[in-house]
Amino acid sequence: MTQMTQDQMKTQVGQAALRYVQPGQIVGVGTGSTVNKFIAALAGMPEPVAGAVSSSDASSQLLRAAGIPVLDCNRAGELAVYIDGADEIDGRGCMIKGGGAALTREKIVAAQARRFICIADQSKRVQVLGAFALPVEVIPMAFERIRRQFAAMNGQAALRMKEGRPLVTDNGQHILDVRGLRIDDPLAFETEVNQWPGVVTVGVFARQRAHVCLLGTPAGVETLRFD
Ligand code: A5P
Repeated sequence: MTQMTQDQMKTQVGQAALRYVQPGQIVGVGTGSTVNKFIAALAGMPEPVAGAVSSSDASSQLLRAAGIPVLDCNRAGELAVYIDGADEIDGRGCMIKGGGAALTREKIVAAQARRFICIADQSKRVQVLGAFALPVEVIPMAFERIRRQFAAMNGQAALRMKEGRPLVTDNGQHILDVRGLRIDDPLAFETEVNQWPGVVTVGVFARQRAHVCLLGTPAGVETLRFD
């Protein structure tokens, strides 16, 4: 038997997420390589969704290219589901997100949905959050002080770069990636860091944690329920 690749596991969970989507519905759509598989699956629905609220310019482009209307978040009302990937997910559905720099809009759309369905391959499942460098979106004038605040908790924060310059997010801000953290209490951590002046969004999703995770494994899709 040939070994299933990570890409195949992402395809499987992207397709499995259709279980949570009804034709005619407006669906919240995340960002990343796993979500791209979900968008491809959405595009193939025999009876389409009414539209999507998107968490990034990249996902909006893909959705439009697939013929799926992208709706204004402020006009869409409460969403039944938000479907997105994760960089890490723990045993309670808390996540690290933002590897694709879309964490702020991801948290906004997630907050507007009744249920968060996380789609991820098995490499994302962890006992404790923090091995993946934590993304934090910051106002550019504050990044040096925020870097020092993380250093005081033994975190090494580095400005994310792109083509030799600090990366600029869809919101015009920068990203700090913080290594060396062990996040035992994600809710307390998220609450504290969110208060720091200049922090736009911390990439810990504990308030907006997943209700369900569809985890891609070589044996098929495993459904983890957290609610
Ligand atoms: C985007 O900012 C992230 O939160 C993604 O959801 C996360 O990085 C997972 O991406 P992949 O599906 O590409 O692993």
